[in-house]
Amino acid sequence: MKITVYLAASANGKISNQRNVPDWLSKEYGQGFMAISQQTKAVIMGKTTYNILAPDYLPLKNEGALIVLTHDTSAKPAQSNVIFTSEKPQAIAAMLEHQGYSEAVIIGGTATVSEFMKARLVNELILVVEPVLFGAGLPLLKEVDHEIKMALVDVKKLNDHTVQLHYRLTT
Ligand SMILES: NC(=O)c1ccc[n+]([C@@H]2O[C@H](COP(=O)([O-])OP(=O)(O)OC[C@H]3O[C@@H](n4cnc5c(N)ncnc54)[C@H](OP(=O)(O)O)[C@@H]3O)[C@@H](O)[C@H]2O)c1
Repeated sequence: MKITVYLAASANGKISNQRNVPDWLSKEYGQGFMAISQQTKAVIMGKTTYNILAPDYLPLKNEGALIVLTHDTSAKPAQSNVIFTSEKPQAIAAMLEHQGYSEAVIIGGTATVSEFMKARLVNELILVVEPVLFGAGLPLLKEVDHEIKMALVDVKKLNDHTVQLHYRLTT
């Protein structure tokens, strides 16, 4: 199972601002978010991110799997392909593989990306760097106490101000 993290970040590595308003995201980030979700058909996110996206902005409609990490697994999902789970990352990856998925994308947020990084299950990171600096906000990772080395796969300029960095994790 290949697992990719796809995130937008400020130029100083924050994935949200203190206001928690996504008005700094480019349309190219949104297009990439839809494209990678359509490609993998398996999308993993935390409940906080789900609460921002549901019901109107979830990246898959009637196909694939939207896996949402939450302790409240009895909540009512917004659509039939949403799976609320409190399973560990290894079990989630195994479940997706069992269902026939060979790839998945993690779309946020910090807690969820960190869980999968801690479990060393992330193969690739695609970071869309937006032209902004946040003095406060959410970091990309928290409580991940090992260093992660990466190889640069690709750099793409998405518009006049936004760059996409594509990395493969090597450790
Ligand atoms: N820049 C970007 O690309 C991007 C993308 C997405 C989100 N974001 C930002 O990230 C923020 C959210 O990040 P976040 O770290 O606060 O939240 P998150 O990862 O989206 O969701 C956290 C929630 O997921 C559940 N969870 C996490 N780990 C779990 C585990 N091991 N077992 C069971 N449930 C688990 C818990 O839900 P329960 O409390 O329900 O148990 C937890 O409160 C958003 O506000 C948004 O601003 C940015």
